[in-house]
Amino acid sequence: MVAAGLTWVRIAEFSWAQIEPARDDLRWEWLDLAVETLAAAGLKIIMCTPTATPPKWLVDEMPDMLAVDAAGQPRKFGSRRHYSFSHAGYRAESRRISALVAARYGTHPAVCAWQTDNEYGCHETAISYCTAAQQRFRLWLTEKYDNINALNEAWGTVFWSMTFTDFAQVDLPNLTVTEASPSHVLDFRRFATTEIATFNQDQTKIIRAHSPNRPIAHNFMGDFNQFDHRPVANDLDIASWDSYPIGMLQNMQTNARLDPVLEADCLRTGDPDFQAFHHDLYRGMGQLWVMEQQPGPVNWARNNVIPATGAVRLWTWEAFAHGADVVSYFRWRQAPFAQEQMHAGLMLRNDEPAAGLAEIRQVSAELEGLELPKNGPADVALIHDYEADWMCEIDNQSEDFYYLRLLLDIYRAARQNGATLDVIGPDTPIDGYKLILMPALMNVNAGLEARLTASNARILAGPRAGVKTADLQIPETLSSPTLAAMTGFRSERLDAMPQSLPLACTWNGIDGHVAIWHERGSSTGQQEGEIGDGEPLLVNGNSGSYLTGWPDQELLRGILGDQMDKAGITRHHLPDYLRMRRRGKMIFLTNYGPMPVTVPNSIIGEFVVGAREIPAAGVAILTED
Ligand code: GAL
Repeated sequence: MVAAGLTWVRIAEFSWAQIEPARDDLRWEWLDLAVETLAAAGLKIIMCTPTATPPKWLVDEMPDMLAVDAAGQPRKFGSRRHYSFSHAGYRAESRRISALVAARYGTHPAVCAWQTDNEYGCHETAISYCTAAQQRFRLWLTEKYDNINALNEAWGTVFWSMTFTDFAQVDLPNLTVTEASPSHVLDFRRFATTEIATFNQDQTKIIRAHSPNRPIAHNFMGDFNQFDHRPVANDLDIASWDSYPIGMLQNMQTNARLDPVLEADCLRTGDPDFQAFHHDLYRGMGQLWVMEQQPGPVNWARNNVIPATGAVRLWTWEAFAHGADVVSYFRWRQAPFAQEQMHAGLMLRNDEPAAGLAEIRQVSAELEGLELPKNGPADVALIHDYEADWMCEIDNQSEDFYYLRLLLDIYRAARQNGATLDVIGPDTPIDGYKLILMPALMNVNAGLEARLTASNARILAGPRAGVKTADLQIPETLSSPTLAAMTGFRSERLDAMPQSLPLACTWNGIDGHVAIWHERGSSTGQQEGEIGDGEPLLVNGNSGSYLTGWPDQELLRGILGDQMDKAGITRHHLPDYLRMRRRGKMIFLTNYGPMPVTVPNSIIGEFVVGAREIPAAGVAILTED
């Protein structure tokens, strides 16, 4: 590890049954040895709480700690994450084992950071329909609404005679004959977030008490919306995530019908914007680390190809470009047994180096002598909101709609024009941005409306921005009056179409399509482009524009370029699959495509890594002075 230039090692995230094979029978020897071995080599340790894998004896002691799926079936022991966040007994056990690990290693000089649990929500475990969740949901609702009539109003229970007279009557929103009230489902999602956030907070409190001044991380995931990550990240120092570019390219294809040409061209490098987007998303929640970087083929995607030569280095540099402080790989050595035996490591199972290791060595060598500047402010902000994502999912009107895919298309279009972006939440300050993108921001809260009104930034809102209340009802004003005043458009009707049957659209000499969502409404602003029988694609008001539909990528690329011009942001004409990002005075260029590309002459500086011609899966870095 040291020879390869690694400096951090994460350990023990699934080790509960090894630490405690039977209740109170604690076996620390093997973990002490691991800690001392790593410490002696000068490596820094990220110690984990092992709560993602409760041992069998514990499940046998309290079988009702298992989560229950939407069909009412308990989820069995035999893999991982088999617990309900709401089970009081399990929460006590999670505190007990976390305190034991934190007390034993909290002040060890080599233990320099912590990770809580592992990938909250992975394998559909954010939500459980168990009795404990039902009881706690009722308490949560009592606290939120106080009066049952307030709940009835928020959920619109009068609609199908669903009226409650007591919080004790409220059930979880599964197994109803047809769908439950959308507002009921939305509140249940919010409740699930509270459960995860408080579960995590239990652990962070314990770790801080036993291990002062060590930063705490959790490893979040990509393409994951099952809980709001921001309240969880509020209790963390580091917002890390697990980046599997090739696996996610395959799995996003199922979720979101990626462009087949891009899938073919980037099969072995991953979507050029997926990693970037998530780096920006999590950097908005804390110090950015990548806790697990894909090192070779994985085992869990629809298909599991070998990465292009250079891809592991490309992904590592991409993370640093977006402000990451640490990039850590999963895993060190391929495991010969069990579920992930086909998952690559940096070493083969016999301790010969695997293909990825040479690329890590190369990055380590390149990093030496390079001082990475602090991440600077971005010109463009994209607002990402978990609640908007849930509202879209609960109320999408077209099964082909996928929130992350829309956001990625818009993010991609800005990056195709050379933009450096921040991905921010709906409550993040917006000072300093020149352009703010708000696709599918279903509810625009009053605080954000006030900040938008006070800001000089240009906005690009829609499709479907400001069209729901926080309770998931249609507002009396139909759309947010603030957005309507800024963009000159008020949404009134939604045309939700199959993706395979889009509407023809022209804008600025480009012929293309608008798919899945198209809004019709009244406009007081200046209209641009034409959809179908003459409806506008964009409406421009005094401080921004409203995008009425979901255009294809070529149209979006043109539109975002034009919006950047209007906002006074320099744009560049980048070849396909070449992306750039600024980190302070450095410009990082990444080529995700299968062919070499030439960096346009409009991008100037001194090359400190690579050159103007970037090979397939290659990287170049420029400094501006
Ligand atoms: C992550 C997880 C790891 C491992 C890895 C495989 O989801 O945190 O434990 O399973 O994926 O790619």
